[in-house]
Amino acid sequence: MKNDSKKQELKSVNTKPVIKENENKDYAELVVLKPVGYPFEFNLMDEDIEITNKDLFEEYAREQWLGLVVCENSHLFDQKIIPDYGFEIVTAKPNNSIISEKTRIKIITDELNKLKDNTKIKSNLHLSDIIGQENAKNKVKVITKYLESPETFGPWAPKNILFYGLPGTGKTMLVKALANELEVPLYLIKATSLIGDHVGDGASKIHDLFKKASENSPSIIFIDEIDAIALHRSFQSLRGDVSEIVNSLLTEMDGISENESVITIGATNNPTSLDYAVRSRFEEEIEFKLPNDEERLAIIENNLKTMPLKYELDLNKLIKVTKGLSGRDIKEKVLKTALHNAIANDDSIIRMQNIDYALDSTKIKNSDVKGMFE
Ligand SMILES: Nc1ncnc2c1ncn2[C@@H]1O[C@H](COP(=O)(O)OP(=O)(O)O)[C@@H](O)[C@H]1O
Ligand SMILES: [Mg+2]
Repeated sequence: MKNDSKKQELKSVNTKPVIKENENKDYAELVVLKPVGYPFEFNLMDEDIEITNKDLFEEYAREQWLGLVVCENSHLFDQKIIPDYGFEIVTAKPNNSIISEKTRIKIITDELNKLKDNTKIKSNLHLSDIIGQENAKNKVKVITKYLESPETFGPWAPKNILFYGLPGTGKTMLVKALANELEVPLYLIKATSLIGDHVGDGASKIHDLFKKASENSPSIIFIDEIDAIALHRSFQSLRGDVSEIVNSLLTEMDGISENESVITIGATNNPTSLDYAVRSRFEEEIEFKLPNDEERLAIIENNLKTMPLKYELDLNKLIKVTKGLSGRDIKEKVLKTALHNAIANDDSIIRMQNIDYALDSTKIKNSDVKGMFE
């Protein structure tokens, strides 16, 4: 019964594009941005961003935000930097318009010097944006409850949790959403940034990170792509200072006492490459799975809501052709490529032929890569 009504809904969506708000929007001629800062507190990455080549930045910005609607006084997030770096839209001409390949994007660089104060701004991600991954979301619920009243948990507090699963399944996204829901500081680091120029850099960065987190507890430490530093022992000899970083991580994780309310979340695509001692410190390993049919439909529908163009798409077919793809691939490789293909053809509607183009070009890329190693 439930499925049937879902199908009915699908059919009506197929023939009648639901996005009305963006239908009459113009393309933006000019967008002026002001760098604002990161949405989280964290202490291990350079707080400034430095834009040395404005033309290059413009090209990069246009490529990344093509098709997005820009409104003055709202934010754009640079999702290629972790955590997403926020820019305020100071000017959009005309206001409430869409970034196209011809939009000029300018940046106010004088403001960059003031970034030291690192304003904390909210990203726009919420837990409800993550489709599926119920186990992980349940764990996040427990963490939230714990951080609200740590005393009720006594010695049963959540401490170290590992998120693992294929790339693009929502691990980083979930932690960003968690940070948004919480009032406590989240210290986010990408593990690769711990590998410094000098032996000892990474170890002392880890020490500083845990120190700061415990001084400001309750708090969360999120080590993204933790396999980069906590490599399996058999690989450690290949990377000079890695074993030192691993030891430092172990010392710090063990040093957090029961009543300190510091939670460490690690994320990795490949838990088997983790150092065994590090892996054993995580009390729970939660798998992120590829989306099933229903979840892919929800991911597709959610993404379509923000499409700047109208669309006439066969959702049932889309569910079939995206089987086996992650949330990221659906968004970036299929929907975004299809949108760009429609924009490039000066089309005002995204159709299945644009989706076919996207699927083909993705396949071409895959076979190219394979060919290189054959
Ligand atoms: N479960 C999901 N629900 C909704 N969107 C998802 C999901 N998984 C991935 N995505 C999309 O893919 C993008 C990348 O996901 P990300 O969290 O960075 O993956 P991971 O960290 O697991 O490699 C997200 O920003 C989102 O657009
Ligand atoms: Mg990630």
